[in-house]
Amino acid sequence: MKTAVFANSKGGVGKSTIALLTSLSLATRHNRAKVQLIDLDPQATTSDSLSRFANHRFNVTNNEEFSLGSATPNNSRIISHLESISSDHLSECYSILDCPAGNEPERSTFLLHSNIIFIPTSVSDADVFATKKYISSLIELFDSDTENSPKKSPLVVILPSMIDHRDELNELRSVLAGMPVYFGKPLRYSPNFRRAFRAERDDNNVKVLLREHSAYSKWITDLIIHSDRLKLRPKKLFQL
Ligand SMILES: Nc1ncnc2c1ncn2[C@@H]1O[C@H](COP(=O)(O)OP(=O)(O)OP(=O)(O)O)[C@@H](O)[C@H]1O
Ligand SMILES: [Mg+2]
Repeated sequence: MKTAVFANSKGGVGKSTIALLTSLSLATRHNRAKVQLIDLDPQATTSDSLSRFANHRFNVTNNEEFSLGSATPNNSRIISHLESISSDHLSECYSILDCPAGNEPERSTFLLHSNIIFIPTSVSDADVFATKKYISSLIELFDSDTENSPKKSPLVVILPSMIDHRDELNELRSVLAGMPVYFGKPLRYSPNFRRAFRAERDDNNVKVLLREHSAYSKWITDLIIHSDRLKLRPKKLFQL
């Protein structure tokens, strides 16, 4: 059982978009995988959109009990839910959590129960400032977690999103250079993402996205599946 979280205190950075792409990619690329998309956002954009794909291997959950209101997660409910999911011998289970904007690590101890935390950000100043602050709070949360050794903290991966040019990516990498986390592959800007959440006839919008971003999907799903191969916390920004 692997748990991946998409989080950032900043809104509109691509959390739900990449959570959608990742959960569908895991389910379609790995035919023994059982995938559960857990939408922690009361707006429920991801779960509303993905519920039409639900089947015995793809579960979509939006449980009011997971939230105590205004972006405050109900940590104990989320943790007990995660602990109740277990892999059987025929399938591997993956939980993908989509967090709402406003998520603050100090109020989100459930984050400590994940394997990997993805933090999408665009190159805009507002996103980058919020992302740096978010990562610092996340590391404080890890360091305050005396029950676990630092070795057991989740992996943290920044996901450059909505990238237009290589120059933008280089700029983002240099601004974040001192952060002791991983730096993932860029998800480029594509107008097709604007149609990611609608229910189109024949699901053509989703097919187009999975095809257009197949290399990215492979990269992110492989990273989740093999997350235990990575050393836990790099000393400074480490490009994957
Ligand atoms: N790579 C991309 N290219 C083009 N548009 C994108 C891309 N990623 C996301 N978007 C668009 O940016 C907007 C914000 O994306 P999304 O809803 O995924 O962000 P979010 O972080 O989940 O936001 P919120 O904090 O409100 O939940 C959406 O309109 C989405 O379609
Ligand atoms: Mg969202």
